[in-house]
Order: sequence, then C-alpha cells, then structure tokens
Amino acid sequence: MKRITTATIRDRKKNGEAITMLTAYDYWTAVLLDQAEIDMFLVGDSLGNVMLGYESTLPVTMEDMIHHTKAVCRGTQQAMVVADMPFLSYQVSVEEAVRNAGRLLKETGAQAVKVEGGQAVAPAVAAMVKAGIPVVGHLGLTPQAVHQLGGYKVQGKEERAAQQLLEDARLLESCGAFAIVLECVPSLLAKKVTQSLGIATIGIGAGADCDGQVLVTHDLLGLSTGFTPKFVKKYADLQQNITAAVTAYKKEVTARTFPAPEHGFAMDGGVLEKLY
Ligand code: KIV
Ligand code: NA
Repeated sequence: MKRITTATIRDRKKNGEAITMLTAYDYWTAVLLDQAEIDMFLVGDSLGNVMLGYESTLPVTMEDMIHHTKAVCRGTQQAMVVADMPFLSYQVSVEEAVRNAGRLLKETGAQAVKVEGGQAVAPAVAAMVKAGIPVVGHLGLTPQAVHQLGGYKVQGKEERAAQQLLEDARLLESCGAFAIVLECVPSLLAKKVTQSLGIATIGIGAGADCDGQVLVTHDLLGLSTGFTPKFVKKYADLQQNITAAVTAYKKEVTARTFPAPEHGFAMDGGVLEKLY
C-alpha cells in the first residue's frame, strides 16, 4: 500500500477523481478506516465535542491534538493524516503558528495541518508552507468562530459573503494551501469555488461538486449523541447496536449466564484436590 501524499491529492484534482476524508481520533478507528482505504484522516478538533464532551471546539488544546493524532498515526499506514490546529494555536502570531504546526508534524507523524479562516490566517498559512508544512484551509462554517458567527449556520448565502469566501479560497491557494475544506456553504458556491481553484476542495455540507467529501465518522456510523446536521448521511446505526450489546451483557452477568464454561480456563488435573 502506498502512502497518500499531497502529490496524490493534486493528481486527484487534476484527474477528477473523488477524494475521501473522514475524521479519526484514535487508534482503532484509524486501523479500520485505513483498511477501507479512506484517503485522508482528519484528526479534527471536533474531538473536543465527540471524544471529550465539550460544547464547542474552543477548549481543545495542542496537547489534546498531539495525544489523539499520535494514536491515529500509530494505526495508519496508507492514509494521509491531517491534524487540526486548535483554537489560539495559530491566531496570535505567525511565529506561534509555525511553531505549533511544526509541533503537530514533528511530535505525531501527521503529514499536514488544517487551519480555519481566510484573510486573517493567510500570513500564517504562507509561513507554514514556507517552513515545509503542508496546509489544508477551512472556509465557510468555521466552528472555532462559532461565537462570532452567532451559531452553527450556513455561510456564504448572500453576494458579499459568497464573494468574500471565493476570494479567501483564492488567497489560501496563493499562500500555498494544498486543499480547502468547505463547510456548510451553498452547493452552487462550493461548485464555483471548486472550479475556480487549482487545489482540491473537500466538502462537508457543501454539495456534490467538491473534489472530495469529509464527514465526522461518528455521524456516519450513527454514533452521535446529540443533534445530527442535515448534511449527514447515517450509513449505520451503531448506537443502537452498542446499546443492545451492553444491555445484553448486563442481563447475562446479572443472571449469571455469562461467563459460560467455554469462557473459562481449565486447571491441571488433580491440582484442586491438593489445595487445602
Ligand atoms: O474538526 C472537524 O471534524 C472538522 C471537519 C468537520 C471538517 O474540521
Ligand atoms: Na475542525
């Protein structure tokens, strides 16, 4: 199996071959998704919500990201691992951005980082790329800005916002980003952005015309505990499966039907009789 690289992603864009990306936050998910030959794993700061129970992605730290990204990298042979830069790890200064992005690659084995925003983060993106760090952009609904956006809602519906998003996308490309996630933007705007760029767009709630798609793995598996956004398709209902399994376990332990004899270990013959 050959490792997916930034060169692979560029080729996919050129050849019009769809790119598949999913979130992964731990070792076993990485192993399973790698077997399924998913192209890119996003260690999203959504792990703050999904794995750590925070109400937003804002509390997620560099240490959280490093911890989870290392686990994902240990389970990954083929996919490209992209680590989200957490809130405040790249916004304060270009210098801090490069140092933190570098840490994510250096200390985890990830191949790329992702940052949210356009114009405001462009100098940081350019500096990271200059330092040899592959960068994925993220435009549209950028969850780290949830308080500024006034909630989780579709972005770029009206002309000014749409134009701004298109310009931000071009700017990120000119700064050297090799792909851009488009989250919760109108399908036609995502199509326009995709056609306007030489780098890949990866959509989530951005229609079918992006170069690739990403979802939160827990959402597609039916493992989410809260609200499920409109753009999610549930490919399984693991939550129901898990609840049924642990309920059956509880029942059998309570009834003393688990463990059964076949789950136990035998002793050498005659040993029991010698015990006193
Ligand atoms: O953190 C995340 O899961 C993301 C995706 C939704 C793109 O940034
Ligand atoms: Na994210």
